[in-house]
Amino acid sequence: MKQRVVLVFAMIGFPFLMAHAQSSGIPRLEKQGAATRLVVDGKPFLILGAELLNSSSSSLDYMRPIWPRLASIPLNTVLTPLSWELIEPREGQFDFTLPDGLIRDARRNNLRLVFLWLASWKNGMSSYAPLWVKQDTHRFPRVLEKDGATVEILSTFGKESMQADARAFAALMRHIRDVDGEAHTVLMMQVENEVGVLGDSRDRSPAANQAFDGPVPMELTTYLQQHRDALLPEFRRVWENAGAKLSGTWADVFGPGPQADEIFMAWNYARYVQHVAAAGKAEYALPMYVNTWLAGPQSSPGQFPSGGPLPEVMDVWKAAGNALDIFAPDIYAPNFAEWCDRYNRAGNPLFIPETRGGTAGEANVFYAIGQRETIGFSPFAIDSFVEADQTPLTDPNAELGKSYHTLQQLAPIILQYEGRGKMAGFLLDRDHPQTTLELNGYRLEVSLDEIFGTRAQTGFGLVIATGPEEFLGAGSGFRISFQLKDGGPVGVGIGSVEEGTLSENAWIPGRRLNGDENDQGKGWRFAPKRIHIEKVVLYRY
Ligand code: DGJ
Repeated sequence: MKQRVVLVFAMIGFPFLMAHAQSSGIPRLEKQGAATRLVVDGKPFLILGAELLNSSSSSLDYMRPIWPRLASIPLNTVLTPLSWELIEPREGQFDFTLPDGLIRDARRNNLRLVFLWLASWKNGMSSYAPLWVKQDTHRFPRVLEKDGATVEILSTFGKESMQADARAFAALMRHIRDVDGEAHTVLMMQVENEVGVLGDSRDRSPAANQAFDGPVPMELTTYLQQHRDALLPEFRRVWENAGAKLSGTWADVFGPGPQADEIFMAWNYARYVQHVAAAGKAEYALPMYVNTWLAGPQSSPGQFPSGGPLPEVMDVWKAAGNALDIFAPDIYAPNFAEWCDRYNRAGNPLFIPETRGGTAGEANVFYAIGQRETIGFSPFAIDSFVEADQTPLTDPNAELGKSYHTLQQLAPIILQYEGRGKMAGFLLDRDHPQTTLELNGYRLEVSLDEIFGTRAQTGFGLVIATGPEEFLGAGSGFRISFQLKDGGPVGVGIGSVEEGTLSENAWIPGRRLNGDENDQGKGWRFAPKRIHIEKVVLYRY
């Protein structure tokens, strides 16, 4: 199927995808204790996913040999772009060949999907808008920057842009509901991609200037007033430093300088994207999120997309609507754990749509799940192991596959214990060789594995307190010693350690680990170089 030359632009769909009513098992977010879980068909679901390169899913033919490779990693979910330009190549004429084919091929490979709606913005720019939008700069105005230059960025002040984007997204969601409302191959939607103004700290078009010099909207000031104590500290600080005013222009309320510009842009992007998301949700209420280009150290708004849902403006995004369920970080920076922690605050569930794969991803996924109870993890460019001619390259995803293989077995237990304070995750290296956890009344001293003078370079893992004296752990390169949390004269010893696998929640024991493998009873060891699951039973003396 050559979707680029499809000439029939009516509402077309594959005949195999029968129209269905929306069923009650629709993917949704649900709280369990402190955690938020994705629930699909009534059961919790942990996304062990990966994102495709930007252009792969524009051709079903190109994707054909890639699907089985993805399934064999093993992933359970693929994050795949779906662009406005290919769905609505002429205004009002929709072509759903691509989503239909992607849903069909995902199902054939037993994979789920998260669609990325690349529409008004992708990496700040507007290259995915259809040509009929790009060409009509009067109807669909652009951002104007300091030097008077227009850039290929749709202005958030283009009302018609927002309405056209929302109409297209609504049509897509209606179609997904019709073809997938029963099977739930599509789990969630990403709305736009890494939005924000690049090249300047804000839009300086006449409409933007007028709004910037006008009053901060009441919806936002009321939100500030009502949520003052719950605002994220980095945002609250900016507002309070400027006098915590509840009326005035943007510069009055948030101070002079680029921070006010960023907050102003955040409000305007958020209003627009919340509107698009709400239009889609009205048709089919899948969970929806926005992803974020994270600010580098010492960088200022405009060097990163100004107005994107960074922690310092996440409250502004929340104040602008409630159609978006998650503000998600794209974490390429080395301080992975810190970004997880900053995003998993104030009720925002963690979901990581883009990050590094390879050895970094192999380790980081344990922290994201164990410590931050993420809904899902998804390294970018998973299909970079095949070139355009489909020649297999050395697979850079082998490491991720090892982690996913382990986590897939653990997923039902992870999902069972999430939100109950029974699970923790950690990342260790030479600069951070140890950490302390407290679980089930025990203090766990976790450190880089070391025996007979040989120390692991890195360590990562998660542990779950599965019984009063029992822990399940998974990972590599660490060791744990136990004490009672409240101290005292009682010693805690290792009763037994087993390695094993899990099948449908049942523990299948392998070796009994003792002697050097538990350092003669002094440590619960996870040797480096391989990822495995172990169960320890403690005793007191
Ligand atoms: C982040 C974007 O969201 C992706 O689509 C892709 O462009 C990557 N950056 C490239 O590193």
